[in-house]
Amino acid sequence: MTEKERNSTSGSFVMLAKTLFGLEDILSREIEGFGGKVLAKENRMVRFTGGKDVLYRVNYHARTAVRVLKPLFDFRADNEDELYKQILDFRWDEVFRVNQTFSVNSVVHSDFFKHSHYIALKAKDAIVDRFRKDHGIRPSVNTKNPDIVINIHILNKTCNVSLDSSGDSLHKRGYRIGHGDASLNEVLAAGMISLTGWNGSAPFIDPMCGSGTLLIEAAMMAYAIPPGSFGRKYSFQNWADYDQDIFTKVSTERRLVPFEVKEIVGFDNSGKQIRVARMNVFNARLMDKIKLKVKSLENLNKPFSEGLMIMNPPYGERIKPEDINELYSMTGDILKRNFSGYVAWILSGNPGSMKRVGLHHSENHTLYNADIKCQFRKFELYQGSKKTSKTGTKL
Ligand SMILES: C[S@@+](CC[C@H](N)C(=O)[O-])C[C@H]1O[C@@H](n2cnc3c(N)ncnc32)[C@H](O)[C@@H]1O
Repeated sequence: MTEKERNSTSGSFVMLAKTLFGLEDILSREIEGFGGKVLAKENRMVRFTGGKDVLYRVNYHARTAVRVLKPLFDFRADNEDELYKQILDFRWDEVFRVNQTFSVNSVVHSDFFKHSHYIALKAKDAIVDRFRKDHGIRPSVNTKNPDIVINIHILNKTCNVSLDSSGDSLHKRGYRIGHGDASLNEVLAAGMISLTGWNGSAPFIDPMCGSGTLLIEAAMMAYAIPPGSFGRKYSFQNWADYDQDIFTKVSTERRLVPFEVKEIVGFDNSGKQIRVARMNVFNARLMDKIKLKVKSLENLNKPFSEGLMIMNPPYGERIKPEDINELYSMTGDILKRNFSGYVAWILSGNPGSMKRVGLHHSENHTLYNADIKCQFRKFELYQGSKKTSKTGTKL
């Protein structure tokens, strides 16, 4: 460890990693594995401490973080003028240079402040005015590709101002070139796989793979490929205290041991979707690690004697099959008839249709696919798995 590295890693500070609902425990475990000390698990967020190395590692290696914030200061305010004054009072030139571009994001849950867009504008004015006052010139705003991203979070009268170390959301790994009709968020897909506890001891199958998100995230886990390895940039690389040596070290670390069994197979009844999945798999450099085939679930027989299946069928919202209930009922029939010895997990935002699967689930997690509340259910398929009728009676 160099002197420079020792100095920067010894300085520990508080950070907040944002995640999706239901993935807080998984993200906490990831952060602990990266050397962070978890202080609290909150709603869609984990608060932790660590040095610069931990900040870089969570951004580069965490599969279930959406972004990582570094708090700057907080204050209480109940009107926009007070907010402006407090932000104006901060020494912004200690955080970034006037020739760097910046943007402000805001999240507001308050009876005192109504419009998050207006808060972001007010904060931007205060930062610009502060630079103008001290230096006679002002930094430019760039909402598309800013060097520095400032995050304002307001809960009632409490305002937290943070630096967003990630910039673009971390679900944008950089491998996706094609979107399916209803692609899963990469962070959600990685979280779902972690919730199943898959460790490569059985093959991984997604029979409704769409654009291939679950397959790609599974392969990245199985081959210990970090989410940051596709060349995306992070906002912390534009910070005044950015340490290239630490980032190089962090980004060449192997944090996980690759799994042993790595059969990863995807099917979809749409040729178009399989073409999109192929493009993404190709871009993720996983062509030799993921098999893809056009096939309907109706005609699918188990490709291996045992396996872990994760599927994300249409909910009938964005994709409208003629009879969504029939699709789920058929899914239950096929799982029961053709997949004994498998464990199947289904994510669905359609509770009525989910019931039509008609199999007993042994685990259930509530997750959100964008703003759609979903259930993620585990079905253990053994010989003679019980099937329930539409009214719930055991058959
Ligand atoms: C919600 S999308 C899956 C999205 C995918 N998880 C992703 O991240 O891109 C549902 C997929 O199920 C496929 N599908 C619908 N009915 C099917 C069936 N009977 N057999 C196989 N695939 C089916 C659709 O073509 C669609 O790609």
